[in-house]
Amino acid sequence: MAAKILVVDDDASVQRVLTYTLKQEGYEVLVAADGAEGYKLWSTESPALVLLDVMLPKLDGYQVAAKIRAEEATGVHVPIIMLTAEREIEQRVRGLRAGADDYLIKPFHQAELLARMKSLLARFAPREVLVGRPPLGRVLAFYGAKGGVGTTTIAINAAIALHRELGRKVVLVDGNLQFGDHRVFLDLGLDRKSILDVVTAPAVDVDLIKSVLVAHDSGVDLLLAPPSPETAELVTQDHIPMILEHLRTLYDYVIVDIDKRLDEVNLRILDAADTFFVVMTADLSCLKNVRLVLETVGHLGVAQSKVRLVLNRSNAFTGINVKNAESALKRQIDHQVLNEYRGAISALNSGSPFMFTKADSPLGRSLHDFARAIDKDAAGASQPAVAPAR
Ligand SMILES: Nc1ncnc2c1ncn2[C@@H]1O[C@H](COP(=O)(O)OP(=O)(O)OP(=O)(O)O)[C@@H](O)[C@H]1O
Ligand SMILES: [Mg+2]
Repeated sequence: MAAKILVVDDDASVQRVLTYTLKQEGYEVLVAADGAEGYKLWSTESPALVLLDVMLPKLDGYQVAAKIRAEEATGVHVPIIMLTAEREIEQRVRGLRAGADDYLIKPFHQAELLARMKSLLARFAPREVLVGRPPLGRVLAFYGAKGGVGTTTIAINAAIALHRELGRKVVLVDGNLQFGDHRVFLDLGLDRKSILDVVTAPAVDVDLIKSVLVAHDSGVDLLLAPPSPETAELVTQDHIPMILEHLRTLYDYVIVDIDKRLDEVNLRILDAADTFFVVMTADLSCLKNVRLVLETVGHLGVAQSKVRLVLNRSNAFTGINVKNAESALKRQIDHQVLNEYRGAISALNSGSPFMFTKADSPLGRSLHDFARAIDKDAAGASQPAVAPAR
């Protein structure tokens, strides 16, 4: 069946050219001449992809994209490509933040348009196999062997990759309760609901937890940290397993970004976790900490089989290579993430993760590989080892 493409553009010549090009490629084409009509056709016709002009009468392209994202059902994501005449980077970022997946600057070549459309249609194709199956329910804890090694960067971008590239349902929990960074990394204000709204409620159930989650434009849901350090202590070690168990029933992956204290709260998170990723860089103090962490969690009863070492900035020159690090630790490094300082820091400072806006960059591809390895591991672990007796 031909995929339905919605073209929203007020310029009659653009409408004509796009209709002709897309029909030649075998697509079914719907045309709207203003933002309000575009939004209406999206809601009644459920197109497979939307080509959306920015400057439109009634509602502009940003408003249409934002309205679509706000009203889409959970687990559904229509790819949107913005067609823009503006070259400024801020405009592009604004479009992407409004919920677009890609943009093209007019005039564009039709081959480029078609290539980008195909890639988005493939990426967001409905995955029948995933519909209606129970969530995997795996809890993954990300722990930094040292401050600043990139734990939050990896947790956030792995979450987005698992959702957008692998079609998994993902919730990301900011477990750095005092100084959580997710609001900054994801450009969200202090007014958003957080884990504090869960622990201060008179009774906690799954509906309450659902109501405090924040939907990020990437499709990942968020459980944010308390808005100020002094309120963090209201979240106690007893709240954690209960919250994680509820989230497990709703998502394929519950990703928890934790700080480096091995305190009661973090130990309860590690207890609940199926996998415990220790993020490190190749320097002596980090190697020393990894050794201590491995020893300590062993003494505290966390199974070594849960632990995976993630070497961040693996190709940065530090004088210690992967082999040296492995022999110092007497165990293998399980995953590596590339070093790309500019890509990582500019994503952080703009509040839009690279896995969302630059999935095709070397760093994006490195995170994609990491997410694929996580998913393969989890799929393997959830297969029964022996066929059940009938
Ligand atoms: N793969 C990478 N390549 C280059 N720079 C990176 C990479 N990953 C993270 N960074 C940079 O390292 C810095 C610290 O990152 P991040 O905040 O994610 O670390 P963290 O371990 O969570 O820190 P904290 O201890 O403050 O929680 C940031 O400037 C980030 O841009
Ligand atoms: Mg962090």
